[in-house]
Order: sequence, then structure tokens, then C-alpha cells
Amino acid sequence: MNIENLEMLERIKNLGKEIEEKAIENQKALEEFRIHYLGRKGVLSELFESFKLAANEEKKQIGKELNELKQKIQEKYDTLVEKLSVSEVNSNNEQDLSLPAQPMAKGSRHPLSLIQNELISTFMKLGFSIADGPEIEDDWHNFSALNFPENHPARDMQDTFFVEKETALRTHTTSVQVRLLEKKSPPIKVIMPGRVYRNEAITARANCFFHQIDGVYIDRNVSFADLKQTMYYFVQELFGKEVKIRFRPSYFPFTEPSAEMDIDCRICKGKGCNVCKYSGWVEILGCGMVDPNVLENCKIDSKEFTGYAFGLGVERVAMLRYDVKDLRTYFENDVRFLDQFTPLS
Ligand code: DAH
Repeated sequence: MNIENLEMLERIKNLGKEIEEKAIENQKALEEFRIHYLGRKGVLSELFESFKLAANEEKKQIGKELNELKQKIQEKYDTLVEKLSVSEVNSNNEQDLSLPAQPMAKGSRHPLSLIQNELISTFMKLGFSIADGPEIEDDWHNFSALNFPENHPARDMQDTFFVEKETALRTHTTSVQVRLLEKKSPPIKVIMPGRVYRNEAITARANCFFHQIDGVYIDRNVSFADLKQTMYYFVQELFGKEVKIRFRPSYFPFTEPSAEMDIDCRICKGKGCNVCKYSGWVEILGCGMVDPNVLENCKIDSKEFTGYAFGLGVERVAMLRYDVKDLRTYFENDVRFLDQFTPLS
């Protein structure tokens, strides 16, 4: 055996001892150990390089020693990895297991859900039940059955997102009224919450989707006085007894007579601001007596039954309740905004 190979064997033997004796106390030292012995430019790879040059008949002996050394290093390393990861946590006292756990941030209900739930429970107290309908709606339920004339501007591309010629995203939850009246016979007393879509530019006061709650009550002898009383009740439940209310005559194809209801602006308390357009009043809903044509379209005898209906904007009510002047904040999902509302319990 030539002198270099003898030296190599000697070195392997010494390294074996060195490894056995090496004391490693922490993660940092262990990493240094790994780099020094097992690293790409470390002791082992250097030895394997020199080993390539050894004569074939000597490779057998040197190779065996070298492999044993490699195994020894690897084993020492593996055992230390395990030992140190357990003992460092315990000995460094970095973790006090008696400490209470980190509090988890609680979510909160979205303000629109809060308002919607409050509206729903108010109407449920008055005996209304809840119904649901599809957001993609056909022309009949969204328009025709509701007495919209063939060329009414609301059917125009400007307001409606059409999916196909006769199918669109519903522009109001009033479409659910039709589905309901077609299916059930009076007495019918139902509210229909849901999302609606309009092809409008997004601004502080308008969005291309928003939420409505429609309501309908059909029975014998239902009058406009019943409608007014119901509207007074729910507004006072929501905004308190001191709220001022006014009805204005209006027009909807599906109600006759029709009205819009305003309340005094809760933001400026009637003094005038940009939410109420300096009028002191804000419109929160449309309503009226269900047009006999709608009842007939849904196969309900309009001589025997009458009814009232209403549709209110959830965002509008939420804006007034929470004093939020920009509608867009409801849809941006900024936690700084959302955090202000009641946390989930
Ligand atoms: N659908 C109307 C709108 O989106 C609101 C409305 C008015 C609904 C009168 C009704 C109603 O049910 O009777 O503007």
C-alpha cells in the first residue's frame, strides 16, 4: 500500500475517534457538525474524492473503512437531531407550558347579515315566514308576471344583466313573490330576503349587486291601512319610536296604488347631508297593494283576495343604522371595518 493510502486509512481511523468524542450541546453546534463532516465540501466528500484515486486492490479495504465512518457520522447526526429538538425546548425554558393559550381572534357577523337577521326576526314576530328563490331568473318571474309592459325601461340592457335572451340575474326579490303566489293559495304571509343584481356603475351610493327583502301578505280584506301599520311597526322596532316616517305616492307595475316610504335621515338627524341629498329624508322601501293583474297571473282570484307587498333595501337600512356613508365598504372585506361589528359569541 502506498504512503498516501496508508495516511488516508490513518486519517479515517482518527476521524472515527474524533466523531465519537465530539460533544455537541446545541442546534448551532450540530449544524456546524453537519456542514463540516457531511456538507458538500465537507470532510467526507473530500475523502471520497481521494478514494477515487486509490488503486483497485486497495479500494476494498479503504472503501470499507470509509463507509463505516460515513455511517458513524450519519448515525451520530441523526441521534443528535432528535435529542436536541426535544431537549432544547425543555431546557431553554423558552416555552412555559403553564401559560394560557394565545387568544384566537374571533370573527364577527357581517353588518348586512346583522341587519338582515334583525329584519327577519322583526317580521317573523308579525307572523311572516321566509321563502327563497333563484338568483338566475326567467323573464316571466322577474318581469312579465309582475305586469311589466313589454318595453318597460327596466328590461333594458342598462339595468339588467342578461344571461340569455329570456334569462337574467334577478333585478329584485319581487320575482320570488311570483313563484310563491303560483305555488300557494292564500292566506300567504311571507318575506323573501336575497341578493339582487343591476347593471350599474359602482359608486358610494350604488352597486351592481345588493340585498333586498320583499314581503307579501295576501288574504281576504287586506287593506292599505294594514300595510301602513306593518311598515310603522317594523321601522320603529329598528330605529326606535322617535323615527319620523312619510309615505309618498309612487309607481311600480306590480302594485296599485304604490308608495315609497321615507324615514328622517338618521345620519344628519334631518339637518341635511349627502346621504339624504340635503332633503332630511331617506327612502327605504317601495310598497303598495298587489296589482290584480299579478294575482290573476298567479291564478289567484283577485275578486276574492287582496294583498299588500313591499320591498326594502338592506344596505340602505344598514347605512342609516351604522352611519356608514359609502356602500362600497360593505363589500371590500376590510377587517378594520368588519371588526367594528358584534363578534360571534
Ligand atoms: N321591487 C322594487 C324595487 O326593486 C321594490 C318593491 C316595491 C317591491 C314595491 C315590492 C313592492 O314588493 O310592492 O325597486
